[in-house]
Amino acid sequence: MAGRNLLSLEGLSQEGILEVLDTAEIFAEVNTRAIRKVPTLKGKVVASLFFEESTRTRLSFETAAKRLSADVLSLAVASSSVKKGESLRDTIATIDALGIDAVVLRHAASGAPEQVSRFVPHVRVINAGDGQHQHPTQGLLDVFTIRRALAARAGTTGRESGAELFAGLRVLIVGDIRHSRVARSDVMAYTALGATVRVCAPGTLLPVDVATWPVEVVDDVDDALEWAQVVGVLRLQKERGTGSMVPSLAEFTLTHGLTWERFTRLAPQTLITHPGPMNRGVEIDSRVADVDTALMEQQVSNGVPIRMAVLYLALSGTSPEGSPVD
Ligand code: CP
Repeated sequence: MAGRNLLSLEGLSQEGILEVLDTAEIFAEVNTRAIRKVPTLKGKVVASLFFEESTRTRLSFETAAKRLSADVLSLAVASSSVKKGESLRDTIATIDALGIDAVVLRHAASGAPEQVSRFVPHVRVINAGDGQHQHPTQGLLDVFTIRRALAARAGTTGRESGAELFAGLRVLIVGDIRHSRVARSDVMAYTALGATVRVCAPGTLLPVDVATWPVEVVDDVDDALEWAQVVGVLRLQKERGTGSMVPSLAEFTLTHGLTWERFTRLAPQTLITHPGPMNRGVEIDSRVADVDTALMEQQVSNGVPIRMAVLYLALSGTSPEGSPVD
């Protein structure tokens, strides 16, 4: 993806994904140093525009840009001229007039990052989550987290293992698939790397086009959990109307939640992910969220090197020396 926008994981090949993961391994090492900063993007300006709420993605993108020595323009949308009715196009044009090299954009409208990429074709656009469409850096950090966990068990490193550890890996994604941009990006990332993906949700929480996805849709959550080596639990997205699509939250927990009882029946090595924020006690039991095989903290930590890699590749590509760390 060197020198390009990151709007979606659609069309990103296995080679392209491995390029990001392997670059992120280099930046993960930088993040263990006493001084966690490299001059790689010195002089570049990254605009951070979050039109929808975020904790993890926003903070990790801004941390990533600063660790690469880029300058960060962070728009506080709630107190900006967006509240006076300024359009997305005019907002982007205004920020572009200040001189920017990249935009990290989160927006409730699916397709907003692609629109922005047409407004400012000379600026690199990174999708930080758009509506129900895509959350590409979440998909990348999820497979990075799983690769690191499996590599540690195998006594190797993520870079050495390439995509090997994903061949035939059994991944279950469970919960509110319909509204989830994370599910869409995760499915693309896992399948591109060679994993087998199943999805499980109440009928009302399956996307209408799920038959076109490269996944198997399964009904029995207990059978599916027994089959899985990785369980990706999704957040029930109450703000997108999910509450009206299940009889009650308690019933969703009963039929599709990763309860403590279901957790005790998983194979002991089964890895659990959740993109956050979690509804503890709804899609995941609070005790399950804190077990050693639940990788949520690692997912958050890994968001920084993944986003450093994405910003580096989008903005500078491969340096003449072939190393992102000057
Ligand atoms: N996973 C995720 O996108 O979290 P935030 O909404 O906190 O960024």
